[in-house]
Amino acid sequence: MWPLVAALLLASACCGSAQLLFNKTKSVEFTFCNETVVIPCFVTNVEAENINEMYVKWKFKGKDIYTFDGVVNKSGNHPDFKSARIEVSELLKGDASLKMAKSEAVLGNYTCEVTELSREGETIIELKYRVVPWFSPKENILIVIFPIFAILLFWGQFGIKTLKYKSSHMDEKTIAVLVAGLAITVIIIVGAILFVPGEYSVKNSTGLGLIVTSTGLLILLHYYVFKTTLGITSSIIAILVIQLLTYVLAVVGLSLCISACIPMHGPLLISGLVIFALVQLLGLVYMKFVASNQKTIQPPRKAVEEPLNAFKESKGMMNDE
Ligand SMILES: *[C@@H]1O[C@H](CO)[C@@H](O)[C@H](O)[C@H]1NC(C)=O
Ligand SMILES: *[C@@H]1O[C@H](CO)[C@@H](O)[C@H](O)[C@H]1NC(C)=O
Ligand SMILES: *[C@@H]1O[C@H](CO)[C@@H](O)[C@H](O)[C@H]1NC(C)=O
Ligand SMILES: *[C@@H]1O[C@H](CO)[C@@H](O)[C@H](O)[C@H]1NC(C)=O
Repeated sequence: MWPLVAALLLASACCGSAQLLFNKTKSVEFTFCNETVVIPCFVTNVEAENINEMYVKWKFKGKDIYTFDGVVNKSGNHPDFKSARIEVSELLKGDASLKMAKSEAVLGNYTCEVTELSREGETIIELKYRVVPWFSPKENILIVIFPIFAILLFWGQFGIKTLKYKSSHMDEKTIAVLVAGLAITVIIIVGAILFVPGEYSVKNSTGLGLIVTSTGLLILLHYYVFKTTLGITSSIIAILVIQLLTYVLAVVGLSLCISACIPMHGPLLISGLVIFALVQLLGLVYMKFVASNQKTIQPPRKAVEEPLNAFKESKGMMNDE
């Protein structure tokens, strides 16, 4: 025993190493994406070979939030920091870093105090929070603008449909499309309101989900507008299929963005939404082009509908006169 103490005394006397030295870290940051928060504390000159020579104390605002006593091999937690712990097995390597759940991580200055027999030292680390926006400002704008653009184009198509093909098709189905169009417009507006710039949140992702869903519903209406005006030709099928594929692209992008916490897949989602709107534009241009090339517009009718429509038309004309 005495030779050991003498050796220790000698060691501390000769090299002036009564202090434990730390790899100093001024501050650490965490974001929404960190589930556990690690506050680093590394002692560089640990000499202890047994854990019972070590004592660790973490302090925050004057109170002890976590202690580990190697002599009794026991740790103690403050009630406000129940999840706080250190990796005891790493302690002899000098690692006394404190881990805790994000929910308990209070911002501020934490003190790491390590004692090894008679040597001791402490270091202060500031814990900070960094807001990481879910999407960049540019991406936010694109995500909102293009679906709104797509819905405006739908209303353009609906306008052409009601103006050019009015007489024969102002029926319940048209009214249903009108109502559905209004509903989608409301969904997209609500989505855009919820989808505010900022970090990932349930509100944000709900908004984005609504925006993407509404563009999907738009495909059905697009199909219906075509069906009741130009009829379903192969070019229209092509337009609709491309639109469906870009919608799938957007949905895949959306689910990746939601699952990845920090979205690296924003471009996928955005290209889906942009191409979707461009195809909607193509649909409008095509419809306008075909409509203006038709001298008398003969919308496709089912055989059964024809006599009925003819009847309605003649009745309408009689009423007008
Ligand atoms: C402390 O920092 C030094 C140099 O920066 C590095 O070589 C050493 O591995 C670090 N020690 C610990 C315990 O992290
Ligand atoms: C949060 O997570 C990042 C990335 O995984 C990591 O670099 C950082 O050290 C973590 N912050 C804290 C305080 O644990
Ligand atoms: C300390 O206690 C833990 C369980 O709490 C045990 O796994 C470990 O072996 C103990 N270490 C020593 C050195 O007694
Ligand atoms: C933590 O300590 C640093 C340096 O002493 C100080 O600048 C900072 O304001 C403190 N942070 C808090 C949250 O008290």
